[in-house]
Amino acid sequence: MKTLVFATNNQNKVNEIRKVTNGLFNIITLQEAGIDIDIPEPHDTLEANATEKSTVIYGLTKQDVFSEDTGLEVIALKGEPGVKSARYAGEGRDFQANIDKLLVNLEGKENRQAQFRTVVSLLLDGKEYVFEGICKGSIIQEQKGFKGFGYDPVFIPDGADKTFAEMTMDEKNTFSHRKKAISKLIDFLNEIA
Ligand code: IMP
Repeated sequence: MKTLVFATNNQNKVNEIRKVTNGLFNIITLQEAGIDIDIPEPHDTLEANATEKSTVIYGLTKQDVFSEDTGLEVIALKGEPGVKSARYAGEGRDFQANIDKLLVNLEGKENRQAQFRTVVSLLLDGKEYVFEGICKGSIIQEQKGFKGFGYDPVFIPDGADKTFAEMTMDEKNTFSHRKKAISKLIDFLNEIA
């Protein structure tokens, strides 16, 4: 079975992706690889940050690795918070503070359309492959639900009647940006296997 290091410290993302890959690959977390670093996200695009993360971890492990960077892109806010989603309300990366800031910034705006966009960078034998997944939806006025993480309590995907935070992980994965990007990665790995 192919082993891939997943370059993230976010356990929610690990859980989601293990569910999607469903035992097809041996996914190793940074913790399991014995790596304890705060991976840098210094760039102003999701693509560049994803590449940075996989490259840094490849440099440390010399193992096949993938990373992902995700942003919430809100039309009325000209694509913000976007690449700054984790630190929207400050360096503390506080999910609640980020939601509060988002809702304040959307006050009075009619257009509440948004999308989550995930960029996955896979480094296989040192060569990079990039995959994208998008989930379109809208930002509600008041948060609902307690599951998931990040902006999940204020995001309803198109075609659903509840927020990501009100969904089980399986339900979220039927819509999820991350699931779409990872499915492309899985298809690619199956094609070249
Ligand atoms: P990262 O830089 O890719 O770790 O993600 C940036 C931020 O986007 C996270 O800290 C979360 O606030 C948010 N985010 C990423 N993925 C999701 C998701 O699936 N649901 C809700 N928020 C998310």
